[in-house]
Amino acid sequence: MSIKVAVIYYSATGTTYDIARAIEEGAKSTGAEVRFRRIAENAPQQAIESNEKWKEHLEATKDIPEASNDDLLWADAILFGTPTRYGLPTAQIKAFLDSTGPLWFEGKLVDKIVSSFTSASTAHGGHESTLLALNNTFYHWSSIIVSPGYADEIQFETGNPYGVSFRSNNGQLDPDDKTLRAAKFQGKRVAEVAAKFAG
Ligand SMILES: Cc1cc2nc3c(=O)[nH]c(=O)nc-3n(C[C@H](O)[C@H](O)[C@H](O)COP(=O)(O)O)c2cc1C
Repeated sequence: MSIKVAVIYYSATGTTYDIARAIEEGAKSTGAEVRFRRIAENAPQQAIESNEKWKEHLEATKDIPEASNDDLLWADAILFGTPTRYGLPTAQIKAFLDSTGPLWFEGKLVDKIVSSFTSASTAHGGHESTLLALNNTFYHWSSIIVSPGYADEIQFETGNPYGVSFRSNNGQLDPDDKTLRAAKFQGKRVAEVAAKFAG
């Protein structure tokens, strides 16, 4: 049986997107079937236009299908990514999570394998607090949170057992090789744990 993995992310200026692509690669390396989905943008056009990088990234990724509740129903495992906003997930991903009420009510998210990743501008700008805040939702869903922990050597290099994160220096730095290797590991681990659970 092929394991189904959804990688669902929001990214304004591309950093979290780069991590999501590496996570997708890691999940695919296990033979899992992967859906790569972006969270719908809901910011006012004026705000997007005011930031060249944001505008460009939105245009460059416009053909990636938007995440829907169907993707959650379909997947055995789901990895969620969001940049930090004041140490919290973005409003965009929150709006998506808030749309899952009917699935939650019907118990359709019970036993989904879930995991999270993020990026922030600064080293202490809220990496863990964003991941933990995102994970709060998953307790309510009765989903099973799979963290990368220290289950691979790469985790001792990057040092974030909660989930991949990267300090982008306000978008001036692209995720480095270490971060991308950790992201591949997280995608692979989540798909493998989902396979064990399904088995
Ligand atoms: C409104 C707003 C709030 C932010 N809050 C934080 C923050 O609390 N800590 C931090 O380190 N970076 C913060 N950032 C920066 C972004 O999280 C960071 O640049 C991130 O890497 C962007 O990811 P993206 O390129 O995927 O959009 C904030 C950015 C915005 C626009």
